[in-house]
Amino acid sequence: MASNLLIVLLVLLCLISFSSCKLEFVSEICRHGARAPEGDNFGVHYKNGKGMLTSSGFRQHLMIGDELRNRYVKGMPKSQNLLSSRFDPEEVYVRSTQVERTVQSAYAQLLGMFPLGTAEDLRSDQIDVSTPPLNVHDLEDIITELGTDAVQDGMQPVTVKNYGLYIDSLIGYGGCPYIVNDYLRRIDDPQFWQDHDDYFRPLVFNQIAKAFNIDIDDLSFMKIYKYSDALFAENFEGVSDRFNFTSKEWEIVKSMQVPILIQMLSPYSSQILSLRYLFPILELMKSRMGQDYNKELLKSFGTPKFLLFSSHDYQLSHIMQLLNPENFQLEHVEFASILLFELHRRDTKACRDSSEDACYYVKAIFNDIQLKLPSCSSIDCSFTEFKGYIESFGMTYDQMIEICFSEEPLESDKYDEKLRVLQ
Ligand SMILES: *[C@@H]1O[C@H](CO)[C@@H](O)[C@H](O)[C@H]1NC(C)=O
Repeated sequence: MASNLLIVLLVLLCLISFSSCKLEFVSEICRHGARAPEGDNFGVHYKNGKGMLTSSGFRQHLMIGDELRNRYVKGMPKSQNLLSSRFDPEEVYVRSTQVERTVQSAYAQLLGMFPLGTAEDLRSDQIDVSTPPLNVHDLEDIITELGTDAVQDGMQPVTVKNYGLYIDSLIGYGGCPYIVNDYLRRIDDPQFWQDHDDYFRPLVFNQIAKAFNIDIDDLSFMKIYKYSDALFAENFEGVSDRFNFTSKEWEIVKSMQVPILIQMLSPYSSQILSLRYLFPILELMKSRMGQDYNKELLKSFGTPKFLLFSSHDYQLSHIMQLLNPENFQLEHVEFASILLFELHRRDTKACRDSSEDACYYVKAIFNDIQLKLPSCSSIDCSFTEFKGYIESFGMTYDQMIEICFSEEPLESDKYDEKLRVLQ
């Protein structure tokens, strides 16, 4: 009797610990890794070039990819078995902003997720015909070195999609004149920046002016991003000794980043920018669940199980502000920060093939801290609550498009330069 009971208990325990849920979909929004400043490098030489990922930035993203492999790819020790061990284009969709470093970050991360040796080999009978239509001077050497590896060490190239600055209607600014105009109006208008200027000036402006050997009167909060940004890059790379900030001062310098980025857009544009990310994520969840979804919105996405939006500090700042989690205050968007949304299905018999909201819940996780969203009754947010929260912002996808095109693009001679600085 007692042993029967034990078996029943064990079976129950197994059910609870191993199959109480099943991961159905993950989306990731990340900031690129450590990089050189986009604008002035203030005399510091960065080997990989202006605005580009540094070697340490590549390493950060490789490690993210390695850890996500551990969590999501079948057969790994801690895996929730979402993805096949080999890259499958039906399962993985990667989209980057138009900027080199976000594309580089995505590549590095994907090398971690689908590491060397995971690509499909050539069959040996293909080796002789797998050549390009031109004369390769060291053909025999290459063939000998590669064996049946398609490329060196079985590296798996993965598609990273990105669209032009002006036309990307999802994760760029382009395709939404309303946001771009808003940005162009605010970027040079001191009235939007005065409060922050008043607040931060007495705290750290003197120190920053000293660090760059400039007059404090030439500093303003509106124009300070390039200085603080250069400091972050130098600090991460360990290459500069401009000024010894106390740890308190350094925290304040770091804390300027999010307000700067938020202030570049009106609250309304900020919401649009964030929803541009959250709408496709929500629709992809519905499609994974087998519910009706917005086909127009998802037409370029397919039905991936893993979606990566390789982005910047400003998107994460705006999205985190909109999400407004109860248990987390965003102080600074570190290089290679990541925001994950995981869609889980309750693995009960009734939920096995169900598309019902009640069978699903969402975990939102920023840099490994699970977020408690305000509308969710618990930290694991029921799908109904999650969807309700995004709907509670009061804008549909169609309305968003309408607002985006409610204005003609402003003429700006510095349009390109200004948008790039923001990226
Ligand atoms: C900062 O502190 C270090 C260690 O005390 C010192 O060597 C360096 O000269 C200081 N740098 C500046 C710019 O004051």
